[in-house]
Amino acid sequence: MNIFITGTGGFIGGSIAARLARDGYTVRGLIRRAEQREALERLGIEAVVGSLDDTALLAAEARAANAVINAASSDHRGAVEALIGALEGSNKPLLHTSGSSVVGNACDGDNSTDHIYTEDNLPEPTADKAARVAIDDLVLAASERGVRSSVLCNTLIYGHGAVPGTASVQLPRLERQAKKSGIVRHVGRGLNTWSNVHIDDVVDVYRRALDKSPAGTFYFVESGEANFRDMSAAMAKKLNLHGTRARTLLGWAPKRTSVIEWIETELA
Ligand SMILES: NC(=O)c1ccc[n+]([C@@H]2O[C@H](COP(=O)([O-])OP(=O)(O)OC[C@H]3O[C@@H](n4cnc5c(N)ncnc54)[C@H](OP(=O)(O)O)[C@@H]3O)[C@@H](O)[C@H]2O)c1
Repeated sequence: MNIFITGTGGFIGGSIAARLARDGYTVRGLIRRAEQREALERLGIEAVVGSLDDTALLAAEARAANAVINAASSDHRGAVEALIGALEGSNKPLLHTSGSSVVGNACDGDNSTDHIYTEDNLPEPTADKAARVAIDDLVLAASERGVRSSVLCNTLIYGHGAVPGTASVQLPRLERQAKKSGIVRHVGRGLNTWSNVHIDDVVDVYRRALDKSPAGTFYFVESGEANFRDMSAAMAKKLNLHGTRARTLLGWAPKRTSVIEWIETELA
């Protein structure tokens, strides 16, 4: 089976492509930086150098493939239109990558909400997400045009990418600024909660959707949730960045950090 995947030089697309190549699929992957070619070939992926704006290239690759995965961007409408146009009437799978900020609200880190969105209960998009949601709808409506199309709406993805040098969006940024500034930061009180999922599970759900997703299906891709306060605290612990002066100025790294453990094991 031949698969064409966009965004193969990135975190999500590269991880999916590497797994499918390992599973014996013939994978052609779009990259826009030719210098990534060798890294992809080492993973068994054939590199196609080009851009999402190159609609003729996208259409030719989509027609030649048995299935298409669009993982380069959740927001590039032109690429999605080109892929749907090329696949029209073929009943081939088209998996499009979206993101759960389509159901996010602007709480500035100060609160969370008990409201649970499900696939059948989506809110009207806010103005800043309307274009992304319109692309998702376009993909879902392609099921009426003879495309086995699905939207995989990913949440906060964590884990390491398969292509060297790739990383997810949110936690790696927090980590970079924490290492630079010595402090892990979150917005407001950090009470904003995001659903999340590990990249290996993301790859697995794309693999399954490729095989058996019914046409016109929207999926939230999530396996848990956490707020930024807790994620920041865990990161600070792991990076040994607690923010106290003795640690940041003197490089002090206490070896005994659990009073409970001391009580349980050493109290006379
Ligand atoms: N990671 C997450 O947690 C997450 C969750 C939900 C949704 N998403 C969405 O999923 C999409 C992919 O995310 P990602 O984390 O895999 O990002 P990423 O690591 O930046 O990967 C995207 C890849 O697509 C390529 N690309 C972007 N625009 C392109 C264009 N116009 N033409 C050709 N190639 C293009 C990039 O090329 P360059 O390397 O040359 O820039 C990059 O290699 C994004 O739209 C993101 O918002 C991500």
